[in-house]
Amino acid sequence: MGDKRSRIIKALKDAQKTPVSGEELGVKLGISRTMVWKYIKSLQADGYEIESAPKRGYVLKSVPQLLYPDEIQMGLKTTLLGQKIHYFEEVSSTNSIAKEIAASEEEGALVIAEIQKGGRGRMGREWVSPHGGIWMSVILKPGIPLRHASRLTLVAGLAVANVIRNMGLDARIKWPNDVRINGKKVCGILTEAKAEVDRVDYVVLGIGINVNMDLKDIPESFRAGSTTLKVELGRHLRRVSFLQDFLFELEQQYISFKTQPFSHILNEWLALSDTIGRDVKVTTPSRIIEGKAVGVTPDGALIIRKADGTKEEIIAGRCIY
Ligand code: BTN
Repeated sequence: MGDKRSRIIKALKDAQKTPVSGEELGVKLGISRTMVWKYIKSLQADGYEIESAPKRGYVLKSVPQLLYPDEIQMGLKTTLLGQKIHYFEEVSSTNSIAKEIAASEEEGALVIAEIQKGGRGRMGREWVSPHGGIWMSVILKPGIPLRHASRLTLVAGLAVANVIRNMGLDARIKWPNDVRINGKKVCGILTEAKAEVDRVDYVVLGIGINVNMDLKDIPESFRAGSTTLKVELGRHLRRVSFLQDFLFELEQQYISFKTQPFSHILNEWLALSDTIGRDVKVTTPSRIIEGKAVGVTPDGALIIRKADGTKEEIIAGRCIY
């Protein structure tokens, strides 16, 4: 089904608004005109605006502004990420679904949703996920020790920051995983892993990016520290193109992660860090540590130099400055 459907979309797109007859489509795909018509009906039901000119054929007038797998995969330059996409209009949390299916899924599979009703943030917090954002989870099977799984959070943060920077915005990374523009959060990352003894079975990289929302779409209690790409750019973005660029960038960084010493990623990450050099206060479930952020360990722990000159490494916490 998926293959024929996307081939019809592609044929109509390639025709650039000139009519394509049902017969021509049928011959191309090896199906009857009636079957073509059924595909067209289903595409129309999904929001593709397709006109049918009697005796001349079908014209694609517009495509829906949704994250449909057909749209994402058409023109996607990756060879691993997004080859399989599970798409939902609404879910509780893409990370929860990704974890349910991860064991039997291929590496690189994606779970993506238009809205999340139970979006999860770090440290048990809620993640607000209305229409207009990109809420997704990437299933990875890197075969690394569990203690290195947090490195993938840095990989993902770097990829998001790079793609946003390529659009001319000064995206920076706040430890451990917030991508910010002008000091306001535009993306959060929640990495979850399952491991057997010490080797990970899978890692789920949950990535939430505020793309086309206005600030009024974000509840007041979260609004002050948040921004969206639309707000920062002053224009609406084609989420599909942004996502294709992001998946390509993430794949490049993932290849580098697997083939190069981790210092390559770490140095790039440090160059975009918003945190290093600042006086910070980090809250962990058991205590609060204050001092100057002076570096990050290869496993992503924040190194803090305290007032008495001693250094401490914090693996997870909420960082304020
Ligand atoms: C944070 O900054 O606290 C992390 C936020 C992570 C949000 C993403 S959205 C897609 C995926 N599904 C979830 O429930 N959470 C992550």
